[in-house]
Amino acid sequence: MIAGKCMVWALAGVVWLAFAGAGLAQTATPLTLKLGKELFNENCAVCHQADAIGKPGVAPSLTNPELLAIASDKFFMANIRDGRVDTGMPPFAHLGRKNVRAIVAYLRSHAREPSRAAQVASQPDAHGDPRLGKQWYDFICSTCHGVNGDGYEAGGTGTAIGLAGFLDKVSDGFIRETIKKGRTNTRMLAFQGPAGLADLSDREIDDIIVYLRNLVKK
Ligand code: HEC
Ligand code: HEC
Repeated sequence: MIAGKCMVWALAGVVWLAFAGAGLAQTATPLTLKLGKELFNENCAVCHQADAIGKPGVAPSLTNPELLAIASDKFFMANIRDGRVDTGMPPFAHLGRKNVRAIVAYLRSHAREPSRAAQVASQPDAHGDPRLGKQWYDFICSTCHGVNGDGYEAGGTGTAIGLAGFLDKVSDGFIRETIKKGRTNTRMLAFQGPAGLADLSDREIDDIIVYLRNLVKK
């Protein structure tokens, strides 16, 4: 009997993983999306604003195309469930997994591009020189993200990219893609290519990632 129950849970886990890979929006019913929107308006809109467009210095946009393209459901679930320690993002584990999943499905429903989350997560880890990374970071990034990546607390408009609450939830590929492409309709511009704020090379971007990772190891 107990073994049978375990089997059911194990199977449920497998199904959950399969759906997580496919992306919650494709599998969500209209009822789930409606629930997700209601829960978002009740719990999140006060900071992330209506339609999750974000507000500089208060909370980031959750519906801009670049974030939705590279963020996995796992990333969203973890941020919502655990929050981000030492920032203004509180944990919402008390909502329960079903409700958190509904919110993620609602956020995902804003996506207009196919997800690249799996490809981005499987990119190789960054290798580079943290001392050079620190120079770039202090020169370009610290005005918005704070001298040690403390985020809004330091008075800027960028999130706390030097803290474990962010770094423990993302792959190097996620950080790399964000630096390269930026985020539309926010103050996070692209840092690679002719239209970028600066045209950083792949190596320089990896130096910055290694520098950020070292902030948490210390
Ligand atoms: C002009 C201000 C500004 C500068 C300069 C800037 N950023 Fe950002 N960055 C932002 C904002 C704002 C966001 C969050 C977007 C939002 O509010 O929706 C962000 C988001 C990010 C994110 C994603 C963080 C998350 O919480 O998901 C990363 C990674 C990042 N920036 C890295 C960098 C790096 C590295 C540099 C320097 C090369 C840099 N940024 C320079 C404003 C800036
Ligand atoms: C009291 C304000 C506040 C509330 C309420 C809030 N958030 Fe946040 N949220 C933040 C802040 C601030 C950050 C950025 C933290 C940082 O600097 O790392 C954030 C970050 C996030 C991120 C990471 C986004 C990124 O760009 O990496 C997600 C996802 C998120 N919040 C989802 C939610 C959801 C869903 C809810 C409602 C269940 C919610 N938040 C409620 C303030 C809030």
